[in-house]
Formats: sequence, structure tokens, C-alpha cells
Amino acid sequence: MSNKLLSIKNLELSFKMYEGTLNVLKKINLDLEKGEKVALVGESGSGKSVTTKLILGLLNQKNVFKNGNIIFKDRELINLSQREFKKIRGNNISIIFQDPIAALNPVFKIKEQFFEVNCNGGKISKKDSFDKACEALLKVSIRDPERVMESYPFQLSGGMAQRVVITMAMINNPDLLLADEPSTALDVTVQNQALDLMDDLTKVTNTAVLLITHNMGVVRRFAEKVYVIYRGVIVEEGTKSQVFKNPGHPYTEALLQSIPKLNGNRIPIHNDNAPDYAEIPKFTHPK
Ligand SMILES: Nc1ncnc2c1ncn2[C@@H]1O[C@H](COP(=O)(O)OP(=O)(O)OP(=O)(O)O)[C@@H](O)[C@H]1O
Ligand SMILES: [Mg+2]
Repeated sequence: MSNKLLSIKNLELSFKMYEGTLNVLKKINLDLEKGEKVALVGESGSGKSVTTKLILGLLNQKNVFKNGNIIFKDRELINLSQREFKKIRGNNISIIFQDPIAALNPVFKIKEQFFEVNCNGGKISKKDSFDKACEALLKVSIRDPERVMESYPFQLSGGMAQRVVITMAMINNPDLLLADEPSTALDVTVQNQALDLMDDLTKVTNTAVLLITHNMGVVRRFAEKVYVIYRGVIVEEGTKSQVFKNPGHPYTEALLQSIPKLNGNRIPIHNDNAPDYAEIPKFTHPK
């Protein structure tokens, strides 16, 4: 039996704008196996978030042009209808966005937001949904889940909101969790706690994770496999140890040097004097 979960092949994306065409993804290829932890790393604007949006069918504007394949569990997603995507989102594939408070709907209590997610997994009563969510919140060390369930998002601390968001994303045991910079809005301790929690929960359910980040420190902590993206081009692919010990592409080296040092020095990657890394051939480490 194949272990393949997601296979992105020659994925292209462009936006037709008034000023001309903006080519954002240029034939990217990316594979994830069941239960695998994969990082997609690159600087701001390189095309990380749009990749997750295409996987979830969230880019439906008229000016979007896409090409290639997104095969999830042997099923082509690229031109799936919104109706079909709705069944997949929150069930088979979940997403956690950067800012937990913003990810939650400000006008609904947490229990109502859990109900919506729980309903997506099939019919459920409000009471059963409440109990199921409380049980899940207890498992992530929220000692007073009833109070949290009755709260509005603004009443929760950042760390608490992050726990709620991760629990919500995991409650239907998805096959794939997309984590779009789950940590940047948080302080470092909360960030590490969020990564640990995601690691723990996904291990239990054998959920694969595609972690989207621009922070190599986060990659080192979490990922098994790494893809490096630069201006819509995958420039390097390999296991974590291959990429960290022996980066094959100059852009990856620049990213590694940009990990914040204790003395606060940070080497800027993208400036006017930098070479156009996308022109340099992709580096793939041996399997
Ligand atoms: N809906 C849209 N319409 C037009 N252009 C878009 C749209 N969404 C994204 N873009 C453009 O696509 C490019 C990639 O954006 P994306 O959000 O994927 O970047 P990112 O790698 O996630 O960056 P960050 O690290 O800042 O989150 C950017 O140039 C962005 O301006
Ligand atoms: Mg982004």
C-alpha cells in the first residue's frame, strides 16, 4: 500500500491584474507521506500561503489562473467544486492560521465554533459537540474547558486561543494539517508550546503536517523533510539533516544564516545586491 498522502505536481498559479500578470507559483512539486512532518520555508511573498490556499480550494477569484495537479489520497483537487471542498476542509484537511485570535470568529463563542467544526464531521447534537470539545480541550491541558467554551475569542489569552485553534483543527482527526506560520504572532515560549502541542496531537492520530514558515529555527525544531521556496520556485528539497548539514542551494545557505542569533544579528536575505536565486538550478538531495 502506498504511503503517499499529497502529491503536488507542476503547480502553477498566476493572478491577472490590471497592470499585467503576476506569476506566483512556477511549476512547484511537493510530496507528503502519511504522518510526515514537512516544512515549506521561504521569505515573505514567496508563495507559501497561496500554496495552502490552493490545497484547500480557497482561491476562487475570477483572476486566478492555475495549472498542474494537487492529488490528495488519489483524488485530484485542483478543479474540485466548492461543495466537495467543504466536505474535505476541517475533516480530511485542516488549517491553522498565523494569528489565533484572528483565526477565530470574534462574534461567536468558542462552543459555537466547535459546533460548526463538529457538524462538518457528521450530525451531532449541541450537547455531544460540547462534551466532545471539552474532552479534547482537557487533553491539551485546559483545566476549565467549560469556561473556555462559553468565552468569546477576545476573552482568551494568546496561548489559550492557540490551544483552542489547534484542538479545533485536530478534532476530526484530519489526514493533513496545514499550519501557516502558527507561531509568528506569539512570543517564543508560546510558539514552542504550540509546536510541541501540534507535534503531540499529530503523532497520536498519524496526521501529516505541512508547516509553512520563514523561520529555519522553527523548521529545525519540527520538520523531517524540507522544501525551500524562493519567488514561487522550489529551489531545494531534502531531509532536515541534509538541508541543515549540507545546504545545496545558495538561497538555503542565506536562510540558514538568517536564523536569529543570540546577539541579535540577522543577515538580510533579499536585497538589491542579492543574486536572483530563482535562476540557480534546484538542488535535490539524494533520497
Ligand atoms: N488574492 C491575491 N491576489 C493577488 N495577488 C496575491 C493574492 N494572494 C497573494 N498574492 C500575491 O502572491 C504572492 C505570494 O503570496 P503569499 O501570501 O503566498 O506569500 P507568503 O509566502 O505566504 O508570504 P508571508 O511569509 O508574508 O506570509 C505575493 O506577491 C502576494 O502579493
Ligand atoms: Mg503567508
